[in-house]
Amino acid sequence: MADKAGPHSDLARAQTALSQARHVACLTGAGISAASGVPTYRGAGGALWDGLKVEDWASPEGYARQPERVWRWYSDRRVQLGGISPNAGHAALAEIERRIAGRGGTFTLATQNIDALHQRAGSRNVLELHGSMLRIRCCVCEHARQVGHEPIEEIPACPQCGARMRPAVVWFGEMLPQDVWTAAAEAAAECDVFLTVGTSAVVYPAAGLVEMAAATGGTTIEINLEPTPASRLVDIAIQGKADEVLPELVSGTG
Ligand code: OAD
Repeated sequence: MADKAGPHSDLARAQTALSQARHVACLTGAGISAASGVPTYRGAGGALWDGLKVEDWASPEGYARQPERVWRWYSDRRVQLGGISPNAGHAALAEIERRIAGRGGTFTLATQNIDALHQRAGSRNVLELHGSMLRIRCCVCEHARQVGHEPIEEIPACPQCGARMRPAVVWFGEMLPQDVWTAAAEAAAECDVFLTVGTSAVVYPAAGLVEMAAATGGTTIEINLEPTPASRLVDIAIQGKADEVLPELVSGTG
């Protein structure tokens, strides 16, 4: 981690900002779940799947082209998730929320992740920008249901209209759920401190939350393994692992 020690270090400045904040918003991405064993999509440690980039198959067209293959990807990850636990980074964000709420403030956690690990770590005000692996929905009608970690080998048919079900996640080319997006954008625009953690900050509109927060004057802090397009926008950019930096941030924060 760069510039770790001392009262004027990036970490110390971030701790001071967080200690004084009343309204905090946070954007997380795949990097925060990396220490739990969930692979990222890009960047250091990021993986291709069967030689394909995520943009090539995580789309309505990708699902229409090869539904069984895409279904299996999500189904396998959903099953794996049953044996995975939240890490110290998730726990630290849940602790920040408890402290901010305890002094009458608000904490909004907008995540691009579909693994529900924030909720399992105790975060309460979570906005799932890209949906959840633990939900499936009909490709045609509104029918949706929760699913657990059990394997579902065959793509189920919708019990209401008979069409094919799909993971209830947001794919490339699709809109984010309007209410979820509005809440995230409001939180980013109104916060005193904005944290962006473990995201390559290249997928929009989610990445635009950093720009909104920077434009409205809150203190913006990035925690990521490597520089991203957000690094030059934020006030404080800390390079390091989320599961190491976030607990340090909390330990020095009131
Ligand atoms: P990415 O895989 O694009 O980026 C993960 C970022 O986390 C990279 O910049 C890594 O350097 C960083 N990273 C890796 N390990 C880390 C660690 N231990 N601590 C901190 N940072 C770490 O993931 P996202 O930005 O979440 O969307 O990707 C955004 C969206 O692209 C996803 O939600 C998904 C994908 O396509 C859809 O499927 C719609």
